Order: sequence, then structure tokens, then C-alpha cells
Amino acid sequence: MADCGGSKTMENVAEKEVPKTAEEKVNKAAAVVGKEAGSTEATECEGAIGGMRDPSIRKEAEDSDEEDSDEEDYDDEDYDESDGEDREGFMTMLQSFLMSKLDLSKDADIPKVLDEVTVEAVVKYIKSGECKSIITMAGAGISTSAGIPDFRTPGSGLYSNLEKYNLPFPEAIFDIEFFKTNPQPFFVLAKELYPGAFNPTPSHWFVRLLHDKGLLLRHYTQNIDTLEHVAGLPAEKTVEAHGTFRTSHCIACRKEYSQEWMKEEIFKDSIPTCSECSGLVKPDIVFFRENLPPRFFHCVQSDFPKCDLLIILGTSLTVQPFASLIDNVPPSCPRLLINREKTGSVDPVMAILHGIFTGGLALDSPNNKRDVALLGDCDDGCKTFAEMLGWKEDLEKLVATKK
Ligand code: OAD
Ligand code: ZN
Repeated sequence: MADCGGSKTMENVAEKEVPKTAEEKVNKAAAVVGKEAGSTEATECEGAIGGMRDPSIRKEAEDSDEEDSDEEDYDDEDYDESDGEDREGFMTMLQSFLMSKLDLSKDADIPKVLDEVTVEAVVKYIKSGECKSIITMAGAGISTSAGIPDFRTPGSGLYSNLEKYNLPFPEAIFDIEFFKTNPQPFFVLAKELYPGAFNPTPSHWFVRLLHDKGLLLRHYTQNIDTLEHVAGLPAEKTVEAHGTFRTSHCIACRKEYSQEWMKEEIFKDSIPTCSECSGLVKPDIVFFRENLPPRFFHCVQSDFPKCDLLIILGTSLTVQPFASLIDNVPPSCPRLLINREKTGSVDPVMAILHGIFTGGLALDSPNNKRDVALLGDCDDGCKTFAEMLGWKEDLEKLVATKK
């Protein structure tokens, strides 16, 4: 079960860390790439810098030995032996290439919603009345204090504790192809984690409070524990992105089965099979290699363009397509991460070195105007945030409801 006792001090990253300037980042990138250009080993970023490297290198080879212009003469040693001036020129070119890739100027056009990238500024924004539609995105981290393990925390996470199932790889327990050949591990686990035995955490109640305050546009959860439902969040406000135990289907003929029927099967340790075709019956939770529910895509399309503030709680943001939702809000929309560690960030320098710019939270970016992290325990983060909003007692009342 989850280690939920680790209550860490809240840390406002934006306040504590001095952001690096764009120039520093670019210089760092140039230094790394410059080093790699001199290396004899191929790297993953070859594609990204190839366009820079080849012409300058060829020119260098031609200049240094005009009689012998054969391209094959160039190798990495030639580059290493180049004089300081050529190297400086290469670095300057590389810098401007990276600056254009970072496209720092484009960001200047995006309106600034927060006065500064701090939790206080997010609170001020909510209090101003300008922030009317909040979307919350949650993962297993909001339920660990209820006694439900998350997936990826080393040691306590589910994927570190599946030895007894003898799986080829941890995620196999939720993999549809593996399930078809060996459904038993999933059903043993389903019995252990069956919804109903757990109570909502202060984080769930905080989401409910946002709804009570008329600010919640929608709550998107990857969790299948239904704790937001237990906390009284109406079904129409919740999107269960990874499905639910409420219904089940035969994976062969799609015949539907009720929650009661499936619960009985699970608790008598049987492998549920279809009365029509003898196919396997599985709760409608989304397995790897299965589609997300149509409601997910439908709601994403209508909700995200309207979002005034995105609050991300307790998720490693590693599973797609859920993780990419953070990039579906308008470019100026503030995003608040409440989690034990920073997740969802793509270091702009590394992104360029790998030839892609994938979006993600800009927590450490020099031009971050909208992303804020409240690092530590989710429940503590929600309580702190509620208190800053003047909602301390409202939250306490809700939390007391289910004791
Ligand atoms: P993960 O286990 O991948 O990530 C949980 C995140 O929450 C990590 O960053 C933890 O550090 C953090 N965390 C845990 N407890 C916390 C606490 N009390 N306070 C603050 N942070 C805490 O779980 P998910 O991101 O939900 O999918 O995983 C996503 C998906 O991967 C799941 O829905 C599941 C899994 O495979 C399927 O099975 C399809
Ligand atoms: Zn069937």
C-alpha cells in the first residue's frame, strides 16, 4: 500500500528557484552540442543538429585543404583540430539556430494572465473573478492517502509490488493482449483494489469544493477508484479517462454485465466469462492498447478551449493521451501543478537536442509566464491553497463529512 505519510514542506518553485536566462540556456545547449559535434559517437540528436553541422564542417574541411576537397576527408578529428576562430563561428551559428528553435520571441505575443508565476498570483487570479472555468486533472497521487497505492513511486507504487504475479513486465497487468492470455493477475488485483473500501481524501474534497464554488468546468481523472463520486462530485462534472468498474463487457461479443455481477465474480475468485459466447468479461477500465471512452474525447474538445485555469494533481503525466491534455488549454491559460515532484516538464534545451518541441509545463523555462508548482503532498497542497483562497473552513467541513 502507498506510503502516504511523507508530508513534505510546500515549496513554491517559482519563488525559490532563480530562473536561468534564455541566453544561459542557449549557451548551455551550444556547449553540449558543440561537445557532441566533436564526439565520434552518433547521438540521438544528430538529426536536429545535422543541418548545422554538415555545411560548416564541410567548409572547414575545404578551407583547410583546398587540394583535397573529397567529402570523405571530413571526420570528427578534423573538427577537433580546427582553430579557435572557426569553432567560435560554429558556436555562434549554433546559438542562433537554437534561439530560433526556442522561438522565444513568439511567446512575447501571448497575453500574461498572472502577475507573476507564484501560487499567490494564482490565488489573486481566482479571487479577481476573471477565472471562471477551472479544469482539474488527477492521477493516483490524490488517492494514496486513502490507502490506494499509486503506480510508479519506487517501493510503494503498484508496479514495484507485482512480483507474486510473475508478469513479463509490470504494466502487463493492465495490458489487453496479456489479459487475453492470462486474466488471473488482473482479477486478483481487482479484488484487492475493488472500489468501495476507501474514503475520499482532502484532495478529492478540494475538487468538490471547486464545484460548490461554481468554478469547476470539469474534473478529468485517470483513477478508477470512484472517490470523486464518493465525495459527491456529480457524474456530469467528472470524466473517467481510464474507465470505470461500474459496467463490464465481454471482450468477444461486447455483451454488457452489471457491476453487481462482476463484483460477485471477482469476490468468489472466478474468472468471469460470457454467458453468450464464453468470452472473457472485463470491467470497463481502460487497458493499455485500448481506446479511451468516447466521452473523454468529446469533453476534451469542448472543455479545454474554455479553460481559465488548469490544476494538475498527483500524476506523473506519463500515460498518453491523458498526459498531453496539459497542452490543450489556451496558450495563456495558467497551469498549477500540485504534486510531490515536478512532472510534465520538458526541458527546452533537451527537447531541442532530441529534435522535437513537445510542449509540457514550462516550470523551469526562462520565459515561463503561467506555470506554477506547489510541490509536496497533494492533500497539504490543497489545504494550503484553500486556506490562501479563504476557503479553509469550507474544506474542513467537507472533509469532516465522511469521517
Ligand atoms: P503514477 O504512479 O504514475 O504517478 C503518481 C504521481 O503522484 C507521482 O508523481 C507521485 O510522486 C505523485 N504522488 C504520489 N502520492 C502523492 C501524494 N500523496 N501527494 C502528492 N503527490 C503524490 O500514477 P498516474 O500518473 O495516475 O493507467 O498513472 C497514470 C496511469 O498509469 C494510470 O491511470 C494507470 C497507470 O498505468 C492504466 O492502467 C491504463
Ligand atoms: Zn460474449
